[in-house]
Amino acid sequence: MERMTRLSALLLAGVLSVGTLAGCSRQAPSDAGASVASESPAAAETPAPAETPAASESGTVSSGAEGDAAAAGGNVLVVYFSASGHTEAVAQTIAEATGGDLFEITPAEPYTDDDLDWTNENSRVSQEYADESLRDVELAAATPDNWDSYDTVFIGYPIWWGIAAWPTSSFVAANDFTGKTVIPFCTSSSSSLGDSGTLLAEAAGTGTWLEGQRFRSSASADDVNEWVNSLGL
Ligand SMILES: Cc1cc2nc3c(=O)[nH]c(=O)nc-3n(C[C@H](O)[C@H](O)[C@H](O)COP(=O)(O)O)c2cc1C
Repeated sequence: MERMTRLSALLLAGVLSVGTLAGCSRQAPSDAGASVASESPAAAETPAPAETPAASESGTVSSGAEGDAAAAGGNVLVVYFSASGHTEAVAQTIAEATGGDLFEITPAEPYTDDDLDWTNENSRVSQEYADESLRDVELAAATPDNWDSYDTVFIGYPIWWGIAAWPTSSFVAANDFTGKTVIPFCTSSSSSLGDSGTLLAEAAGTGTWLEGQRFRSSASADDVNEWVNSLGL
């Protein structure tokens, strides 16, 4: 396992060239790429172009026909996890654009910069990555106030090794999305949305999940607003 962790770190290092990201207190991976698989990150993928998310069956995501985005709306909640601020900035823009409320997913034990050091095989994220059983992160608060009152829930997260950062999965597993339209969004250095939204939908098992959208870490408010407007909420 240790060998796999070291190999994974090397592979991630190979595809994540280090760059400085605005508003970020640490150097974060840029030009990153990773497969959706939970093992070693793979080659970089082209970021997904902005598109109208497709409608889905409860608890699953499917692409294809024009989505039910117009049916969404109502009371909007923007849920997000953000370890270093990029996803938070996107979430704030979405909340402003939709008049929605914000809820930050906060691990009971927040991630420090050292925890996030994916180049260190002994760091918290590296250990959680290597051992899936460690990814069930306890949250400071699992359910937002007035959860039942929201019709539309945006859910945002950074991509970690090709999938949603795991505190997001903890949130999703802890809540009932029945009757809600759920719209995933993520930030990453270069990986696409991939299967991250689909995996969250499967973990939730309830709700009507749209396909969602990936943004680059330093996405502009214009990028985000253009996408929100395309949803026709
Ligand atoms: C542990 C870790 C793993 C990451 N894995 C990937 C990855 O697989 N692909 C990618 O494009 N970016 C990856 N990144 C970069 C983040 O997705 C990106 O910087 C994101 O915008 C951070 O969002 P935040 O500031 O909201 O935490 C990773 C970052 C960390 C800390």
